[in-house]
Amino acid sequence: MRTRISVIGAGMVGGSCAQRLAERTYADVVLLDVVEGLARGKALDILQSLPVVGSDARVLGTSSYEDVRGSEVVVVTSGVARKPGMTREDLVLMNKKVISEVSERIAHVAPDSIIVMVTNPLDAMVQLALHVTGFPRTKVIGQSGILDAARLRTFIAAELGVSVSSVTAYILGGHGNTMVALPRLSMVGGVPLTDLLPPERVQALVDRAVNGGAEIVQLLQSGSAYYAPAAAAVSMVDAIVLDRKEIVPCAVRLEGEYGIGGVVVGVMVQLGAAGVEQILQLALTDEEAAALLRSADSVRETVSAMGY
Ligand code: LAC
Repeated sequence: MRTRISVIGAGMVGGSCAQRLAERTYADVVLLDVVEGLARGKALDILQSLPVVGSDARVLGTSSYEDVRGSEVVVVTSGVARKPGMTREDLVLMNKKVISEVSERIAHVAPDSIIVMVTNPLDAMVQLALHVTGFPRTKVIGQSGILDAARLRTFIAAELGVSVSSVTAYILGGHGNTMVALPRLSMVGGVPLTDLLPPERVQALVDRAVNGGAEIVQLLQSGSAYYAPAAAAVSMVDAIVLDRKEIVPCAVRLEGEYGIGGVVVGVMVQLGAAGVEQILQLALTDEEAAALLRSADSVRETVSAMGY
């Protein structure tokens, strides 16, 4: 049997994830939405693109969770996106209801799956899905740091006029305004970024990356970013399905790592067939460690707004 990947929510992020996954060819894709026509329409459109791009993936649009049964990975994108002026945290009560229900359904039909969460507020939604499904923390993983770091890599590469593939960057912490960029560890062809640019330029690039989502919300006026979030989520699916053992920043529940317990934040993890196979602990400066603690506290606040 071919590998099955399900994407819950056929909005802009979900549709973009389904398209990228179908083009991968390694799995069949189920796109589910409560609005059945939306899921079926997008799935059919993607399916009809595959002869052109050379993929034999099957793509199914549905509103039935029965079609999710047997999925190896389930990407959750359901819920509402923020509007201009809103923070991701402002979405918590609206998306709590949606993600509780989605998580319950997934646990029922795909109890052995790995969940890649994309819905905001990201860290709180991972925490909610862990609570509802009872899955281990290795199997409910949030997409945040790959996107945030990709934004920083984009801006560094453009500033220095080099290939994005020559730039590494890491962003830890919650996927909100308290996220913790680590420009100290950013390298450009093996040379520290901090040796290449003055501190104020580095800070300007970090600030733009941290506000990267809000900048796009402001431009779009309705809805939030989707191409880059989908690319980041699908790269996590790649790491899992292809057992790549990739080391990337993802949101996971910490149980003592970095002195943080019982809360979900972004840290460096190794992603492979078993989900989070290892949580890496970087040697942070006192200032970075304090910023990570503050970020974890802000996730705790959002989680407590849900009544947990
Ligand atoms: C962003 C939203 C999707 O960062 O969280 O663009």
